[in-house]
Amino acid sequence: VPAIDFLQLGDEHYEKEVTVVARVDNTRSQSAKLGFLTLRQKGKKLQTVVAAPQEGPVSRQMVKWVTGLSVNSIVQVTGVAKKPDVPIASATLTLLELHIRKIYIISEAAEQIPLQVKDAERPPPLSDGIEGEPELDAEGIPLATLKTRLDNRVIDLQTETSQAITWISSGVAQLFTEYMLKSGARWIFSSKLNGSSTEGGSEVFEVKYFKKKAYLAQSPQLHKQICIAGDMDSVFEVGPVFRAEESNTHRHLTEFTGLDFEKTFRHHYHEVLEFAEELLVFILTELKTRYKDEIAVIQKSYPKAGDFKLPKDGKALRLNYMDGVALLKEAGVDTSEQERFENDFTTAMEKKLGQIIREKYDTDFYVLDRFPMAVRPFYTKADPKDPTYSHSYDFFMRGEEIMSGAQRINDVKELEESMRKKGMDPTAEGFEDYLNAFRQGCPPHAGGGLGLNRIVMFFLGLPNIRLATLFPRDPQRLRP
Ligand code: 4AD
Repeated sequence: VPAIDFLQLGDEHYEKEVTVVARVDNTRSQSAKLGFLTLRQKGKKLQTVVAAPQEGPVSRQMVKWVTGLSVNSIVQVTGVAKKPDVPIASATLTLLELHIRKIYIISEAAEQIPLQVKDAERPPPLSDGIEGEPELDAEGIPLATLKTRLDNRVIDLQTETSQAITWISSGVAQLFTEYMLKSGARWIFSSKLNGSSTEGGSEVFEVKYFKKKAYLAQSPQLHKQICIAGDMDSVFEVGPVFRAEESNTHRHLTEFTGLDFEKTFRHHYHEVLEFAEELLVFILTELKTRYKDEIAVIQKSYPKAGDFKLPKDGKALRLNYMDGVALLKEAGVDTSEQERFENDFTTAMEKKLGQIIREKYDTDFYVLDRFPMAVRPFYTKADPKDPTYSHSYDFFMRGEEIMSGAQRINDVKELEESMRKKGMDPTAEGFEDYLNAFRQGCPPHAGGGLGLNRIVMFFLGLPNIRLATLFPRDPQRLRP
């Protein structure tokens, strides 16, 4: 008889014998004749009873053996499904219990482990830090720190909340891919090992490449554009992005999953901007419906999960960069550096703007368009009517950036000029192939790059990006 999934157990199984394979969540012995064993499968729990009446298939030795099983061992249990005598308290348990007839160990767990699932099940402290003294919960029990949880990620992944978060992450990648493929975009796989940096700047990891140096891709930017010049008119990628940023914050990783796209347009870059706005609305609305159950589970630990406001008309709210500056200024924020185009918004300003926009427009998702050229990368197209500004945009969720994108320069002379203006040397080694791609002509195009981990984090209202990442990498962490 094949083993049955917990979620498939229902009324039709009452009084029938079923077999399940699951982990031991905990054991409790009531007397020499009666014990309880809670089983766990993908975060869901099932109660089983092991009873030794005078006559019957179960002996007292078996009760002793079952209640002595080490927590987390994987067991195969055959038993009769019954309606519980007393209603089962925990919401995670299914509505029937199993009366054990037979039980085998499939894989035994060690007794001593640094983190128990029951501790990982409680949310970590909400503070931003990743180190430090454990905070206590309302009952004075120390909360496992994020560090302990990440050091013991395998245990942490077995919790109901982590199970649900990893499904949401899988969902974001699936929805992005679905939307792109439906639009006719081509899935590409660009190289992550390159002879030069892809975004410029010092935030690039250098690796030994035989007798030379290579660099880990900071984005698929240049390859995406080379594909456009290579007559692929719409491309996308889901892949790792590496950033050598020594930022120890709640939202920075040194490796994250990038969702990138690039496509040609006919008349105006806003065609691509609209495409991206629709993409995000699609992802966010579909997450809410397709992952209702997972969101409900996560809400028990993180109440803001899925409580995400989209504009009423189902479109994106679009403002210009300077509208954002004006809103902040109106709220008394010093925006002089931004008005002089010396700096992009700081994180604090972005968060403040998020609050203002939520109050004024009742949305957690919006787009800022027309950023000053001074704060954008060299490949960004300047507005031909007013080159102080650029044809570029950022997307925000709950006041934090999740995407940046732009129309790109498709004329090689203009590109070389833009590089010089940014203090870069177009004749320097490494840029040749990129610049050559435009020498034979390249259609006007625009695109963007999203951070999957950030979307998951902000959609679920998680306090830290590491909670939204399977195996987070930051300046302190290279394991597990
Ligand atoms: O803003 P970024 O650096 O833009 C680019 O890579 C451009 N090539 C995109 C384009 O097509 N114009 O990165 C894009 C997104 C950000 O909006 C953010 O969501 C995420 O990637 N991101 C990070 N996520 C986690 N940790 C980091 N250190 C991140 N840096 C950027």
